[in-house]
Amino acid sequence: MLNWDEYNKEETQVAPAIKNTVPEVPKHVEPVAQPEPVAEASPATIEAGSRAEAARKAMETFDASEGVKELDEMHNGRVQVDDKAMINCKADLNQLVPFKYDWAWQKYLDGSANHWMPQEVNMTADIALWKSEDGLTDDERTIVKRNLGFFSTADSLVANNLVLALYRLVTNPECRQYILRQSLEEAIHTHAYQYCIESLGMDEGEIFNMYREIPSVAKKAAWGLKYTQQISDPTFQTGTTETDKQLLRNLIAFYCVLEGIFFYCGFTQILSMGRRNKMTGTAEQFQYILRDESMHVNFGIDVINQIKIENPHLWDEEMKSEAAQMILEGTELEIQYARDTMPRGVLGMNASMMEEYLQFIANRRLTQIGLDEEFKGATNPFPWMSEIMDLRKEKNFFETRVIEYQTGGALNWE
Ligand SMILES: [Fe+2]
Ligand SMILES: [Fe+2]
Repeated sequence: MLNWDEYNKEETQVAPAIKNTVPEVPKHVEPVAQPEPVAEASPATIEAGSRAEAARKAMETFDASEGVKELDEMHNGRVQVDDKAMINCKADLNQLVPFKYDWAWQKYLDGSANHWMPQEVNMTADIALWKSEDGLTDDERTIVKRNLGFFSTADSLVANNLVLALYRLVTNPECRQYILRQSLEEAIHTHAYQYCIESLGMDEGEIFNMYREIPSVAKKAAWGLKYTQQISDPTFQTGTTETDKQLLRNLIAFYCVLEGIFFYCGFTQILSMGRRNKMTGTAEQFQYILRDESMHVNFGIDVINQIKIENPHLWDEEMKSEAAQMILEGTELEIQYARDTMPRGVLGMNASMMEEYLQFIANRRLTQIGLDEEFKGATNPFPWMSEIMDLRKEKNFFETRVIEYQTGGALNWE
């Protein structure tokens, strides 16, 4: 496992060797030929030796006033807190402060404090178990493959939605800062799944194509994709009731359903495996991911609720009923996925227990955005999942190491 102590040690050992590779400065230096003066600094016509001179000349005459004037015309100068808004904001989005949405900034700080990388997790036991003839049952193998199949592409769908669709339309810098952080985390999650798939020596083509080829996986991916398509067109703009509602639908689809429901059967299955001391490396990767995902969902819920507060006309009866329908459609697809991945009881769970768990989760997603519960009396058959999501209780869950760690923080420059 890589740790920062070793990294620093290695760096100090390597440093002298690097120093030795610096070529000595020759004692006698031939005068460098001066380039011909460049009349017009067009990059296409500049010879290699004259580029620096051309750049210097171009910057001598560069007039910043045009650009600054444009920024002023677009944004009315310095930003005041009251100028800020979740959507359709005209204030300058390059000015992070003064803060208005402290909850978004705090999540950015919390997410950054939880930074981790997939290579830090030891996969040795998983490789041995996966390759042994009788280490796992066929049903357990199906669970590992299906979940890596779903998640290896699902996080790319989420990342694409963030950077190609959502980022542009959320118009305050605190939320954008968190969306950038979340985008990095989604890249790390995709990396983690790829790392598991490669470590276990799986057929990569088979796993990465499940979201196209396995119906219960494909349905979930296709359901999410249609909401990205609606708002990722570069000409799409919010600003009317209908387009603002389309943005809300995208937020509900991705934060409440994709990240808030579609991940939960798979997380529960893999973490249940880890609790039984099987595939503990894979389970540890999933545990870190679940910690990140809990924050993504909470951020998305806050974004939705804040947009509702600032734009109450969007949250009419029609929108409420659409939002509920979307969450229930997602729940139905996830129940189908649970049945497909668990045709029989496995790992102390079965499809009907998972169905109740998903109904419990769906109730939570509904109430989080101010809607009524749908599945009265649904309880949580997997209370240990709630404990995993409660960061203060999850220390040494798999007796691997303290999970609530933080990265080095401040670097020592001495
Ligand atoms: Fe993710
Ligand atoms: Fe996520």
